[in-house]
Amino acid sequence: MEHDMPNVSNVQGLLKTRELGRTMVFEACIDSTNRLAKVLAADGRPHGTTIVADSQTAGRGRLDHRWSSPAGKNLYVSILLKPKASSESFPQIPLLCALALRRTLAELAPQMPMGIKWPNDLQTRETRRKLSGILCEGVFFNQGEHGVVAGIGINVNATESDFPAELRTYATSMKMETGTDFSRSLVLAEFLGHFEKVLDAWEASNPPSLERFSSEWRDADLLYGRQIAIDQDGRHQEGRAVGIDAKGHLLLEDASGSISIIHAGDAHIVRR
Ligand code: BTN
Repeated sequence: MEHDMPNVSNVQGLLKTRELGRTMVFEACIDSTNRLAKVLAADGRPHGTTIVADSQTAGRGRLDHRWSSPAGKNLYVSILLKPKASSESFPQIPLLCALALRRTLAELAPQMPMGIKWPNDLQTRETRRKLSGILCEGVFFNQGEHGVVAGIGINVNATESDFPAELRTYATSMKMETGTDFSRSLVLAEFLGHFEKVLDAWEASNPPSLERFSSEWRDADLLYGRQIAIDQDGRHQEGRAVGIDAKGHLLLEDASGSISIIHAGDAHIVRR
């Protein structure tokens, strides 16, 4: 099984996409693939340009967290997207990315049931350990067009000792869940294929919406029906999570049955 760094010919030999990954940049070690992706966007690289690193020295996560990025084990990927849809719908992209990733994992490791914690954390369904993180950021292309950098970290072959001590009870990898090594090139090629399909289906609806993914989301949703707490812009709210709307906002029901729409934030389950 390939443990070396994935390279252009390995990955492109496995690709089934039209655009995603057709231009690829590989780096052995970089601060953050998202940062490089933004530079390349300004330099006019095409839609679907994919940046992959074997390790990152300053991998970034959501909410100013760091993303542990040791060499030789995992995938650290950023994809430049220039959706045809208006920028108002871009906040839906992280959720689409999570759905594509879940499809990829279901195909390659069906013995490892995964769910999604809104908006885009891939976690094991039973033990709620995090296997992947997604950080999408807005970007300008050289023609002044808006786009998105979708940054994805997937813990592929990491073992417990590869994670910093504070993450060990909370993070996991495909290898830790299944006992087998996976080819990072294959995981990446399959993910790009699923992501392109999901994006195509999304852009086919006008305006783009998550409506057509609602039953898939419901099946993946780790928060559904749970009592949760959410912090958003310094405001703390509690209630029962009752799914998402067509724009990907979280729906939170309070004790009186009224529903609040949550645009962003970090959700925690209070009671199962
Ligand atoms: C999260 O907090 O869950 C999101 C983590 C996103 C990490 C990925 S790794 C590739 C890309 N480059 C970065 O610096 N971050 C994202």
